[in-house]
Amino acid sequence: MKNVSGTIRERRTVRRFSDVPLQQEVIVSLLNEAAGLYEAEGTPQWRCLYFGTPGSREELAESMMAKVNESNLGKLLPAKMKGLLKKQITATPAHIIFIAEAAETQQQRDVNYAAVCSIMQNVQLLGWEQGLGMLWYSDPLILSESFYELIGWREGEKFAGMLEIGCFDKAPRGRKRTPAERKWTIIGEDNSQLADAAPFSAYNVLRLLNEAVWAPNDGMREPWRFIYVTGDKTGAAGNLLFSDEAPSLPFLLVVAAEETDPHKQNEDYAAVCSLIQNFQLLARSEGWHLRRRIPKWVYDRKQCESFGLRPLERIVAVLESGEYKHYSNSGFSSPTVKITIN
Ligand SMILES: Cc1cc2nc3c(=O)[nH]c(=O)nc-3n(C[C@H](O)[C@H](O)[C@H](O)COP(=O)(O)O)c2cc1C
Repeated sequence: MKNVSGTIRERRTVRRFSDVPLQQEVIVSLLNEAAGLYEAEGTPQWRCLYFGTPGSREELAESMMAKVNESNLGKLLPAKMKGLLKKQITATPAHIIFIAEAAETQQQRDVNYAAVCSIMQNVQLLGWEQGLGMLWYSDPLILSESFYELIGWREGEKFAGMLEIGCFDKAPRGRKRTPAERKWTIIGEDNSQLADAAPFSAYNVLRLLNEAVWAPNDGMREPWRFIYVTGDKTGAAGNLLFSDEAPSLPFLLVVAAEETDPHKQNEDYAAVCSLIQNFQLLARSEGWHLRRRIPKWVYDRKQCESFGLRPLERIVAVLESGEYKHYSNSGFSSPTVKITIN
């Protein structure tokens, strides 16, 4: 990525596309590049489906409209209106559907979902640099039986959303974000006001978070919160018995607010993953070494509460300063892109 900070800040969700066609190779290379930019511990399993030809878009539009058409509201909608809705789908040059694969454990399911959401954000950013606009679309209204059939849905898989992609004439205006300071807690010594040259200092983490908050998030719920643990004064972190590898101080917990509605809950988790991805890209552009992981202890409520985690919140990732180990080392693997071309 050429200008990480500017791209993160300026990227906008685009909902109106021009009819400039897109080449399949452009999409495939975007996906590969986006996956290659993802750096986290674990081996994520995910897949995606591309719909780019007029025929495949027609088939996709049919399945996306099925639930609307069968609903009481849909029966009342004039045919002309339904035609327009369908045309909006078929006229969009490219659609990519992203799916996190099934897994045995919650930790692995989260590894899969976090990866696919972060990679979707990478696709959006890389595309933006090439003049492509995108909409991350996740409305449950499209999830009909025929849609699941079309995507070859298997038990336990999670639909992360689709990216609707095309060129555009005019970018919409951005909506303001809440400064990260207002969503920031420090456990331990608070040195966030001191301009510190150390990459992972509170000052620098906060500085980067203020750029990372320009992440896509549905309904502008900004469902994130940050807990930075230095731990030394209160001993809060030192007293914990971690069920697996303890993070090295200082570390950052990126927290998602949990809505009770399961669809919103997933969307919010996805938005937080996009923010973390932004943060990682920014950190890398400044030459920091950053470790991102979802350790087992984040599923231990007591452990989480010791960091002040509230009810209806969960830790999405633990970030700490550390040598970035290359994918080829054990425990790291490059996410292989499984693309089904339709
Ligand atoms: C997980 C996720 C799901 C989203 N789903 C939808 C959607 O179904 N429909 C829609 O219009 N926008 C959707 N969006 C886009 C957001 O509404 C958009 O990111 C937000 O308004 C902020 O605008 P920006 O992306 O231009 O910064 C989604 C975004 C995310 C991250």
